[in-house]
Amino acid sequence: MSATLPASRPSVTLKLATSLDGRIALASGESKWITGEAARAEVHHLRAAHDAVIVGSETVLADDPELTARTNPMPTKQPLRVVADSRGRVPASAKLFSTLEMGPVAIATLETMDLERWPSAQGLQFWMLPAGEGSSSVSLVEMMNSAQRAGVTSMMVEGGGQLAAAFIRAGLVDRIEWFRAPILLGGDARPCLGGLGLEKLALAPTYERTSVREIGPDLWESYLRKGKM
Ligand SMILES: NC(=O)c1ccc[n+]([C@@H]2O[C@H](COP(=O)([O-])OP(=O)(O)OC[C@H]3O[C@@H](n4cnc5c(N)ncnc54)[C@H](OP(=O)(O)O)[C@@H]3O)[C@@H](O)[C@H]2O)c1
Repeated sequence: MSATLPASRPSVTLKLATSLDGRIALASGESKWITGEAARAEVHHLRAAHDAVIVGSETVLADDPELTARTNPMPTKQPLRVVADSRGRVPASAKLFSTLEMGPVAIATLETMDLERWPSAQGLQFWMLPAGEGSSSVSLVEMMNSAQRAGVTSMMVEGGGQLAAAFIRAGLVDRIEWFRAPILLGGDARPCLGGLGLEKLALAPTYERTSVREIGPDLWESYLRKGKM
């Protein structure tokens, strides 16, 4: 039986910080920093404005991010930091685990995963999930159910491209916050979105721009899914 979404699922924002040509990292994985300081500061405010933030396991392996909201002053509450790590590849040495005193972390992993590989610590939770239909990675629908059970009403997807594309393919992305830096990285760099497998333009997910702002040297565009205005 296929999984169903909760009636009022958490809202989902996709944050993209890209080059002009929509790339998030060089082929080598180097990604620090594409956008400027002002855009990065805004991302911390966006984190603080969501109940949860989520990244794919490859992003943790490449960047070892803290994913905390570091605003000035600091927010009263940190978002739940979620990693989609079906195969248990995020090491116990990741900064996510050494910063648990700052805020909670959830590992979304396959229900068959052996949890011994990770520390057992206060503030660390595990979402044991089945694989998605036709996929070896965790089901995003079941992940939304777990998020809702954890009290999450809003979640921000922070990449990378594979996880972002999976959220788009599942029709889960309500808003996009796109920070675009005036540099070009080229087709050999990593795309902000993995494949969507579209066969017709008419099937392309469509968004309406709600604002565009200059932020330092970058542009910050906001989009809402068509029909959500
Ligand atoms: N410029 C920026 O702001 C920015 C932001 C984020 C990342 N990045 C860069 O992006 C690169 C990583 O991006 P990436 O696209 O290679 O990887 P990614 O999206 O970070 O992670 C992909 C992994 O997520 C896991 N995953 C779990 N559930 C999934 C699902 N339902 N659908 C899809 N994947 C799922 C999969 O591994 P399992 O199957 O093992 O779970 C998959 O291999 C790094 O170089 C990083 O520096 C840049």
